[in-house]
Amino acid sequence: MKKRTPAPAPAVCVPPPDKSLTIRALLLGAVAEGRTVIYNPLFCGDTRSALSCLAALGVKYSLSGNKLTVQGRGLRGLTRPRALNAGESGALCRLLAGILSGQAFPSVLNGRGSLRGRPMARVAGPLALLGADTSTRRGRLPLSIKPAALKGIRYKMPVASAQGKSALLLAGLYARGNTVITEPVPSRDHTERLLKYFGARLTRRGRAITLRPGPLKGRVLSVPGDISAAAPFMAAALLSGRTLLIKNVGLNPTRLGLVKVLKRMGAGLVVSVKHNGPEPSGEILVRPSALKAAAVKASEVPSMIDELPLLAVLAAAARGKTVIAGAGELRHKESDRIKSTLALLKSLGVKAGESGGRLEITGTGRFKAAPVNSFGDHRIAMAAAAAGLRAEGPVKIAGAACVKKSYPGFFKDFRR
Ligand code: S3P
Repeated sequence: MKKRTPAPAPAVCVPPPDKSLTIRALLLGAVAEGRTVIYNPLFCGDTRSALSCLAALGVKYSLSGNKLTVQGRGLRGLTRPRALNAGESGALCRLLAGILSGQAFPSVLNGRGSLRGRPMARVAGPLALLGADTSTRRGRLPLSIKPAALKGIRYKMPVASAQGKSALLLAGLYARGNTVITEPVPSRDHTERLLKYFGARLTRRGRAITLRPGPLKGRVLSVPGDISAAAPFMAAALLSGRTLLIKNVGLNPTRLGLVKVLKRMGAGLVVSVKHNGPEPSGEILVRPSALKAAAVKASEVPSMIDELPLLAVLAAAARGKTVIAGAGELRHKESDRIKSTLALLKSLGVKAGESGGRLEITGTGRFKAAPVNSFGDHRIAMAAAAAGLRAEGPVKIAGAACVKKSYPGFFKDFRR
């Protein structure tokens, strides 16, 4: 009898811990009562900014191996900071604005680089409806917050934004009465899950989230890998026709948009949930597959907001024309990601265009080898690295060091 040769073991990738979750765990731990222990936290530019803001607010923390312990100060135990700098982190800045709105001291939130050009009125405005006393410099940083009595509101968000929603929920902890927020389409729900895990009284009914004000209790949690950091490897495997097993990755359904769309495009992806806690996590097996174009609905965009540059690169390698509707929010990220994604595709020789937030990408065989620009945006740099695997020669990325914002070891891991 002829012996079957076993299939070669897939390459394995373990993504770095989730950035959104690490920032939230730090912030909730800071205002909870008692100690919070965070296993496997992410260390990157954004989370270091979070730690420095906590230190400025009088929060003590210690690190031992991959275990970070935060000594919670309770909702009203933070102390007046001399200065607060959120670095380049939009999530940190906006979530912290929610917490600061409820404090008995004034504060001024500032940032660096791209964050200084990003819109803040979209959080300052809704926070003012709760009664917060906020002001911005023409809708941008610095954001000043003065003490004010907050009251619960019912608020319908005009656009789905996890950062906006989270700022309101965190401020809602300090309000008199309930805060009810309705989103047009669900955005990532890490804040809701963690608030509940930390003992907040939060319920969801359809699209409406209701939070009753009240204290939080310190907890122990472990941060799974970041699906947004795993996504470039998923793309790399598909672009180079290799089998890849992604381990210990967060599988929160509100973050799985790329996986869903890629399956429609013909990608052989197998998702297995291995753990359920406040957040599900597990594995994704990526099998070599030929991709075909897809139509992406506006309602799918929030579940893959940070993966759209990568999807654009994959669409460029697929057969047919891919249309992504309702991608306008991309204009407000670390770069104007509509412009930077189109510039990347153009350098690679791909036909693509945009009108009113609707992106159209025509698939092509191989990409041109060309110098490309990251525009200082970590997600663009990572998408360009993945694109390099389909190019006729080297793709040189200008400003690639920006990956340190979310994933300092990206290029080392990618080379491997
Ligand atoms: C994030 C939410 C998203 C995402 C960002 C992280 C978060 O932004 O783009 O990288 O941690 O809440 P929006 O909520 O503004 O869409």
